[in-house]
Formats: sequence, C-alpha cells, structure tokens
Amino acid sequence: MSTHARETRLSIPAIQQRKGAGSLVALTAYSLPMARWVDRHADVIIVGDSVGMVLYGMPSTLGVSLEMMIAHGQAVMRGSQRACVVVDLPFGSYQASPEQAFHSAARMIRETGAQGVKLEGGTEMAETVAFLVQRGIPVMAHVGLMPQQVNSQGGFRAQGRDAASAAKVRDDALAMQAAGAFAVVLEGIAEALARQLSEQLQIPTIGIGASPACDGQVLVSEDLLGLFGEYQPRFVKRYADLQPQIEAALECYAAEVRAGSFPSLEHCFGVGR
Ligand code: KIV
Repeated sequence: MSTHARETRLSIPAIQQRKGAGSLVALTAYSLPMARWVDRHADVIIVGDSVGMVLYGMPSTLGVSLEMMIAHGQAVMRGSQRACVVVDLPFGSYQASPEQAFHSAARMIRETGAQGVKLEGGTEMAETVAFLVQRGIPVMAHVGLMPQQVNSQGGFRAQGRDAASAAKVRDDALAMQAAGAFAVVLEGIAEALARQLSEQLQIPTIGIGASPACDGQVLVSEDLLGLFGEYQPRFVKRYADLQPQIEAALECYAAEVRAGSFPSLEHCFGVGR
C-alpha cells in the first residue's frame, strides 16, 4: 500500500521545528472548497469550532458537537493535501476526564485522518493533555481568550490585562508546554505578554488578536475575506470584501431569470449537444 499521499502533508514535528524560524501561516477552514483555497497558502489548517458561529449562526461555540466537528474535519481533509490539519475538540467532549478526552480525540483522528486536535484550557487541562500526548495524539493548546469559557470569562474579552490575569495566561501556556502540547494558540492578549511568552516557550505560539510578536498567526478565513459580517473582532484585517461581489452575482442571476434572459442549454453547451 502506498503511503505517498500522506507523506506530502506538513507533519506535526515539521510545524514544531518552525519555532522562531519565520512566521507560521495558519487559517481556518470548515468546508472542502475553503480547504482547497487555503491549502495552497497555509502551513496549518485549523478546523475551528468557530464553525458554530460562522456557518451555523450560533451565538457562541458552546452548541457545537463532536459529530459536527468530525463532519467538518472530514470535508477539510478531502479538500487539502499539503497543510497540517488540526481539528478543535468541542465544548463538553474533553473536559470531564482524560479518558473522555482520549475517546473524543481518538474518534476525531480515526474518523477524519487529521493530524492533531486543539483544545482550550491551561493548568486544569494539563493532566488531560499529557494523557493524550503520551497515547499518540498531538495536541495544540489554546489559552488566553478561550471562547468555550465565554460564560466564565464574562464574554469574548481580552485576557492578561492586569498582573494577576497575565500570570494566569503565562501559567496556562507553560503548563500546556510541560504537558506536551506541540504548539499553542494565544488569543486576545496584549503584545508585551505575547512577546514574553513567544520568547519563553520552546513550542510555536500562534496568535489571534495577540499581536505580531508570535511565531505565527491564525485568522478565521471568512473574516479576512469579508464573508462574515455578524461579528467582526477589532484585530481582524480584511484582505478582501467579497460580500458585495456575491450580492452582485446573485442579483444578476435573479434579474436574468425574471427577465426571461437566462441562457438556454443550447447557449451553454452549443446547439445539438
Ligand atoms: O475556533 C476557531 O476558529 C479557533 C481559531 C481561530 C484558532 O479556535
């Protein structure tokens, strides 16, 4: 059996080796078409549980299920060949115990073929992360603003703004490294803290709303393409505004149909085919 196709993907150790060696490009994808687009540009594709808000219109990520993440992980794996793919473990699928986390993560890896899982949490998740890593499941950690803790963090709020909160983010990131995480997403923290952590940690830091001082960056692809207007974090730079073009194309189609000028099959394929 040939294993060639799998070997063309960037591996977890290859991502780890990018620490300090230039910026890691990470992007989210939830679907096959988006995975095809971002695969040519991203080192890491994160199938984020932000899918709940971006594609399903949920008010937070809390309603996303393991089955949803597996289905989206499968679509992204079908649409990508080159990037390292990491899928989020959703709320409630890993917090109860290391065993519950292993069961969810093993399903994710087995049913999607993704290379790793991402989970939110710090010191309280250290035992769980070590349990997964020791059993062959690569884990990307996620600290700082943790969307799955929207209720206990009092909303989607930047973290580490005072000394106590900064110390907590630092402890969380160090605990994740000590537990064996191969990289850590730093979300919603100030530049000074992100710089300090990126210098102190031996694993790559991937920032989102955490300044350029990280080893890499991740953005929700729909945000940077101007495809998601519901909730626009202040730190997101829009590289395109595709919504008006989509509107114009749909308007054009509807107008043609209503005017009876929608092209016939003969026009599309040539008469007689
Ligand atoms: O859910 C998500 O999309 C994420 C990334 C932005 C890191 O966690």
